[in-house]
Amino acid sequence: MKDIQKLLRNLKSLEGPYLKFDPKNVPSNPIELFQEWFHIAIKNGVHEPHAMTLSTINKLGHPDARVLILKDIDEDGWYFASSSNSMKGQQLKVTPNVSLTFYWSLIGRQVRIRGTSLKVGKERSAKDFLERGKLARAIALVGKQSKVLADSKELDELLIKQMERMKSEADIVDPHWCLYKVTASEVEFWQGDRERKHTRLLYRKENNKWIQELLWP
Ligand SMILES: Cc1cc2nc3c(=O)[nH]c(=O)nc-3n(C[C@H](O)[C@H](O)[C@H](O)COP(=O)(O)O)c2cc1C
Repeated sequence: MKDIQKLLRNLKSLEGPYLKFDPKNVPSNPIELFQEWFHIAIKNGVHEPHAMTLSTINKLGHPDARVLILKDIDEDGWYFASSSNSMKGQQLKVTPNVSLTFYWSLIGRQVRIRGTSLKVGKERSAKDFLERGKLARAIALVGKQSKVLADSKELDELLIKQMERMKSEADIVDPHWCLYKVTASEVEFWQGDRERKHTRLLYRKENNKWIQELLWP
């Protein structure tokens, strides 16, 4: 136990050196700044920059969180896809309030998005589903995400069945597959600093307008 504590103490974090972030010289819309930061993350070789933590609220009012892939960003918001029958899908049905968190360690940047999720129409969800690999589609068609798996043999059997089915119904779409859009009410951009004098810029929607505020590190 002591060794772990020592190990943790000696692990480095936020070492940098990082890029400069000037919060005075930013677009008026956080989605534009997010897109800028996202391109910078890719250019700088951040691993899986499109992996993000989606936080939701369960029926007991407790937080729940998991990593998902960002599927799109446009002027309306951020998009992710999953089965509406999954645990998160059921939670979103009751409480659509969510947060998304990105951390790009290589460039010491974090983005926190708070907002509301909404199901996107069937057509876009179907397109997202059909762009998935064959096995990923078969797994979704089995449709038991987040249920207890009593025997992994059952998973293999159901997967074989769905793979067989897809041979004759190549364009089959899981009716529960869903693209969700997150509309933000707050977006925070955090640039880490080696000396811990981090820069934090919060965009907050007030009367349908984005307000910008700096936050203490
Ligand atoms: C890098 C990464 C990407 C993932 N992408 C997705 C995704 O796009 N959609 C999805 O449903 N699950 C994805 N998962 C799995 C989820 O983290 C989670 O295990 C699953 O969706 C079940 O969550 P739930 O029980 O809260 O519904 C991903 C996991 C990782 C680690």
